[in-house]
Amino acid sequence: MNKILVTGGCGYIGAHTLIDLMENGFEVISADNNARSKDSILTGVEKITGKKVKNYKVDLCNYDDTYAVFQENPDIAGIIHFAAYKAVGESVENPLLYFENNLNSLINILKCAEEFKVAHFVFSSSCTVYGNPDVALVTEDTPQKAAASPYGATKQMGEQIVQETVNSNGSNAVLLRYFNPVGAHPSALIGELPIGRPANLVPAITQTAIGKLPAMQVHGTDYPTKDGSCIRDYIHVCDIAHAHTLALNFLIEGRNDSNCEIFNLGTGTGYTVLEVIEAFEKAAGEKLNYKTGPRRPGDVVAIYANNEKAKQVLGWLPGFTLHDMIASAWKWEQKLAEDEKIFSGKKAGLN
Ligand code: WQD
Repeated sequence: MNKILVTGGCGYIGAHTLIDLMENGFEVISADNNARSKDSILTGVEKITGKKVKNYKVDLCNYDDTYAVFQENPDIAGIIHFAAYKAVGESVENPLLYFENNLNSLINILKCAEEFKVAHFVFSSSCTVYGNPDVALVTEDTPQKAAASPYGATKQMGEQIVQETVNSNGSNAVLLRYFNPVGAHPSALIGELPIGRPANLVPAITQTAIGKLPAMQVHGTDYPTKDGSCIRDYIHVCDIAHAHTLALNFLIEGRNDSNCEIFNLGTGTGYTVLEVIEAFEKAAGEKLNYKTGPRRPGDVVAIYANNEKAKQVLGWLPGFTLHDMIASAWKWEQKLAEDEKIFSGKKAGLN
């Protein structure tokens, strides 16, 4: 059975991908220092799959500690590299933190992959590599504009580092450019666990609705779009997860034409912020408490995916609708609130 190292396996997309990989016959291990994640998410992974996943709690910026994971697992057949910081706003405030963490960890993983002859590498990239595109509908060949944030710059540089490395050492890679991953596993046993106040739209909506946040703010309604708010291509995290399994099989079966293939992962449909809020109100059957406010620096006006290449070449068919995405995110938020109530009740000795 092919063993796959998933870095950032305790993260939002990482944990959902562990499930999809195991459901499709892969053996998995995780490497995650839990700086921005909680390894308790693996309990949910185990409940869903019936399998325990080992997490190596290592800082991938430390070469020796990263090397030790490969030494203990010389049979790693492929790597999916998620581990990175991903908050756009934080990257603007602290660019060196992002360049150091996101690039050093990637370089160490690639050095170990070379040392241990791991032939297949899947890199977690992002639509931010396109910057603010002239045309909102982007293909993999759309020229990259300047990144709108240091976070986006680390993804542009990360892609170049992967491309040059596999060109030189003959291994194979796939770069997966996610659009906006949202939602939670249908079981509501795992989902997004933002640390602190969520920067992303959907957790900001669900945390407002559940009462964790006083009111949600729409960052700008004066953009040149149908209702003045920004347009994004929201994609269910389980659809994103399955694309990783398909990408690994694509590489393992040698179906790649070049040694570094790029795929857009989006539904191909863009929705405005106000349309997402409307979708939430329909799914939850309640009004959302939100205000409109100024634009957020670094925001792209509109971007959504031409996903034909992933559909034709990987056989990827995103199946979740916007309603499914929002409904699963809301179900997860409600489950979190329920668990927290039980936990605080236990702490107070109430039950
Ligand atoms: C979407 C829209 C906001 C919060 C970033 C990264 C991307 C990926 C996802 C990692 C924007 C608006 C948001 C709020 C709002 N990162 N918004 N009020 O910025 O498109 O993408 O996160 O995987 O790589 O670039 O996502 O969800 O932050 O914002 O109005 O409280 O929602 O202004 O227009 P973004 P987002």
